[in-house]
Amino acid sequence: MNFYHESIMPREVLEALDVKRDGLYFDGTLGGGGHSLRILEAGGRIIATDLDGDAIAYASELFDSKGYKGRYTLVRGNFKDFTHICDELGIKEIDGALLDLGVSSHQFDEPTRGFSYRYDAPLDMRMDVRQELDAKYIVNEYKPSELLRILYEYGEEPFAKRIVSNIVKARGEAPVQTTGQLVSIIEKSVPHRKGGHPAKQTFQALRIEVNGELDGLSNAVEDVSRRLTSGGRLCVITFHSLEDRIVKRTMKTMATDCLCDKSIPICICGHKAEVRILKTNLKATKEEMELNTRSKSASLRVVEKI
Ligand SMILES: C[S@@+](CC[C@H](N)C(=O)[O-])C[C@H]1O[C@@H](n2cnc3c(N)ncnc32)[C@H](O)[C@@H]1O
Repeated sequence: MNFYHESIMPREVLEALDVKRDGLYFDGTLGGGGHSLRILEAGGRIIATDLDGDAIAYASELFDSKGYKGRYTLVRGNFKDFTHICDELGIKEIDGALLDLGVSSHQFDEPTRGFSYRYDAPLDMRMDVRQELDAKYIVNEYKPSELLRILYEYGEEPFAKRIVSNIVKARGEAPVQTTGQLVSIIEKSVPHRKGGHPAKQTFQALRIEVNGELDGLSNAVEDVSRRLTSGGRLCVITFHSLEDRIVKRTMKTMATDCLCDKSIPICICGHKAEVRILKTNLKATKEEMELNTRSKSASLRVVEKI
């Protein structure tokens, strides 16, 4: 594998993490290891997770080839199991962390993975190929009402009703097996519109459902923040408004001293801020957006443990 993924806002992430020599940093979304490699180069040590076996294989080879054997631990798993993973490894505190959410370019660009509407491939979209649930099951087995909810909620797709009705018609004749078949059903259902490919929102919605991308995200942000040393930072990069809203709300709540209703004159909840917000909705530079179109939708948020 020559190219895996171009890291988003690498300079901004490195600056925000302010890497300490021999500090321990958690990279929940290893991908091609680009962010982690920069942390290693800055003198840090890495504990990283990824659901995708390809990412683990690629990054370990990369780190070893750069001489970082012994400076990193890679776990094929879900960053939402952060607390359990740290407990298993005997890690009590971390000096910083990164969650660079969503899929890697490798996952998008590898036709067989079925993430992209640009290639005809089996309907799959699993980040972790050991998982049972895939896009084919959702498209062919979910009730129309469930499909509708997914397309509205996760795709914010205004033509969800037409798309679902055409999926149901098509699967009544024969199972929908490929991304190509799904794309042609969507193209029949959606009038030409600005803002990208007609299948973009449906594919996003299915991908989020297959990988449970939004489930437990808020808890993960809390869990990781709570294991930071005082002054340690958590960076989160989001790529769409649904995940960004969850991260923003969670960070805001964690950074607030009292959560009582405004009408109550004295605090009765006793909630104390655990973090302070350092960066909200930081965007990539124009130069980066020109070089890497994926960075256009990225938003970086950073909190620091109090
Ligand atoms: C945007 S890429 C990360 C790119 C990486 N920062 C780099 O510089 O190359 C996201 C990666 O996170 C993984 N991923 C997404 N959600 C995950 C989760 N809940 N747990 C573990 N890995 C996850 C995906 O498989 C993918 O490889």
